[in-house]
Amino acid sequence: MKTLAVIALKGGSGKTTVATHFALGAHLRGVDTLLVDIDPQHSAADILSAREAPGPAYVTSTGRNVLAAQFGALSQRKDLMIIDTPAGAVEAVSEAVVLADLAVLIVRPTLIDLSGLARSLMLVRRLGKPSVVVVNQAPPARETVEAPLVKRALKGLDYMQAAVAPVIVRSRSVYQTALERGRSAEEMSDRAAAAEIAALWDFVDATLAAPTQDAATG
Ligand SMILES: Nc1ncnc2c1ncn2[C@@H]1O[C@H](COP(=O)(O)OP(=O)(O)OP(=O)(O)O)[C@@H](O)[C@H]1O
Ligand SMILES: [Mg+2]
Repeated sequence: MKTLAVIALKGGSGKTTVATHFALGAHLRGVDTLLVDIDPQHSAADILSAREAPGPAYVTSTGRNVLAAQFGALSQRKDLMIIDTPAGAVEAVSEAVVLADLAVLIVRPTLIDLSGLARSLMLVRRLGKPSVVVVNQAPPARETVEAPLVKRALKGLDYMQAAVAPVIVRSRSVYQTALERGRSAEEMSDRAAAAEIAALWDFVDATLAAPTQDAATG
């Protein structure tokens, strides 16, 4: 079983949106998945509980109990466990990251989010875990040219020597509307969103299978 921790010490960056999309994406590909929601807000569990069709298993837990959840997932012979973590809770996030094969850091392309990301990156590096950064809620690129905001963010991430996912997640309303009923954007009619989130999952899945040297050094 592989374990993924989706983290960002900064609030509202998109952890729950990405974590639930990964759980749904894995489930849609036949991967037996458990999402462990250790955020006291339980947004990820609420999202998955709204799903009518069969979906990934989910459970609410805490940083302190996430190891017990992992033992449970192992005994249920799950293929994948995804942990959605709270903002600001260094201890709970650390408890998730120590149990993870890969930490996925979510960041919006703004200065305030990037400074928060530096702290998340330090935490992951201190724990010696492979990590990958996902830029989320980015404005659209014009042709293939990124908006200045995104260019600056990528430069900042370069300074931090962060491994950045090659797929940037754009700000799209379908990510909000799909999750209202526990569905992935992959199950909706917005083809660009479906392709984007599928490509991101494929990248993370491949990284999880064999973390690259880049991801390993963060
Ligand atoms: N790519 C996106 N496009 C449009 N809206 C998005 C996107 N990603 C996230 N959002 C919206 O941004 C808000 C915050 O997202 P989300 O709840 O996933 O963040 P979070 O990091 O889990 O927040 P918290 O720190 O409170 O747990 C939500 O309203 C969500 O629908
Ligand atoms: Mg959340």
